[in-house]
Amino acid sequence: MTGPLRIGLIGVGQRGLNHISALTKLQQDEIVQITALADPYPENLADSKIKGAVSAYSSSGIAMFDSADGLIESGLVDAIWFVIPPNQHRGEIERAAMREIAIFAEKPQSLFLDDIISQDAAITKAGIASTVGFQMRHDRGYTDIHNYLQGKWVAAMTMIAETSVENHGVKHTRTEEQGGPANRVWTANRAWSGTSIVEAGIHQTDIMRYWSDDEVEWVRATYTDRPAELHDTEGDNPIAYTVTYGMKKGSVANLLFTKPARSYYSGRFDYIIHTHGTIKLEDDFVDYRFDGEWPPEERPTVDEVRHVISAGPHNTAMGAESTEGIAEAFATSIIEDKPENRLNSFNTSINSLASVLAANVSNDLDGEKIVIDEFINDDKYAQYRKNPNR
Ligand SMILES: NC(=O)c1ccc[n+]([C@@H]2O[C@H](COP(=O)([O-])OP(=O)(O)OC[C@H]3O[C@@H](n4cnc5c(N)ncnc54)[C@H](O)[C@@H]3O)[C@@H](O)[C@H]2O)c1
Repeated sequence: MTGPLRIGLIGVGQRGLNHISALTKLQQDEIVQITALADPYPENLADSKIKGAVSAYSSSGIAMFDSADGLIESGLVDAIWFVIPPNQHRGEIERAAMREIAIFAEKPQSLFLDDIISQDAAITKAGIASTVGFQMRHDRGYTDIHNYLQGKWVAAMTMIAETSVENHGVKHTRTEEQGGPANRVWTANRAWSGTSIVEAGIHQTDIMRYWSDDEVEWVRATYTDRPAELHDTEGDNPIAYTVTYGMKKGSVANLLFTKPARSYYSGRFDYIIHTHGTIKLEDDFVDYRFDGEWPPEERPTVDEVRHVISAGPHNTAMGAESTEGIAEAFATSIIEDKPENRLNSFNTSINSLASVLAANVSNDLDGEKIVIDEFINDDKYAQYRKNPNR
């Protein structure tokens, strides 16, 4: 097709504004044209609010809708960015797919696997382009790691993500009107976020799949619950998560995720072990690997085994650059009919989402090993897949 691609965006909240910023830049390059926005709350569609976050934004030529379905049925869009909280989906993705509208779905696409399977079936049946908002796959440094590991066997990966309750943003959904948190910090609330592993740790889960070019085969998880008396002030999500994934090609991946309150701390630690090397994410991304005849007569120095695989500085892989990268890749993949520009699809992303949802189930079942294929298909997990509200 000829560009620009006509884009509608549903959910003009914290993340929606990030996407409008990225799309506004792509609009200047005539790759896309934002033609429609939808949000149930008028203040979220107001020029003043959007311009406050995206100075280059103009509402000229954009139709505003107070419901997702109004936008879906408008005939004004070729692709829709779905950017609503994961517990708010009510079949909108399926209805957009039936109209053959391409779909960019923010993660998590729902908190219930039955919904995700239904969304995927509609997308697959319609044969439309789709992607899920794992923007870290479009980060230069992480892509260098992915490319470097092609043809190597990964034995183990660990990501430790230390963050705190205070790092949650105040969101734009009026949760207080729907029995949700009074302070609009829905990411701290289990019924809205599905736990921090589902809402946030899904990114680390997905990037470990991308680095190793692998799928999660099974998961075991143990969480530390936040004491009940703190739920009113700090949210009811756990304080700490220990999640272990068995990958299909044999490696083991660890995701440790922490969310205490009052620490105001964020930090991280990562390693990737392959057969003959240790990858570390320093200012540069580095592989410690001895290339000579082994064993050498003298122990090599650290500098002799240190190989830069991606030169820094590295910006945050979650940030604006990769958000623009995933938007551009998705839009150009449709305009130029190059599906290879998309680094995932709705269907291939199910493994990441099923894995974090299965981590919750493993924790509920005292650390039981949950095989992802069984979690998706077997009757014994049917109760955990079902959305009680649908
Ligand atoms: N990829 C990332 O790095 C990233 C970062 C932040 C959030 N997210 C994801 O983006 C999604 C949205 O999160 P957020 O932080 O923007 O939340 P938010 O509450 O700030 O914004 C959501 C917006 O959607 C609107 N909305 C709610 N239900 C709707 C419906 N049925 N139809 C139309 N609009 C509706 C709300 O009014 C609000 O403006 C979530 O799935 C979240 O996990 C992804």
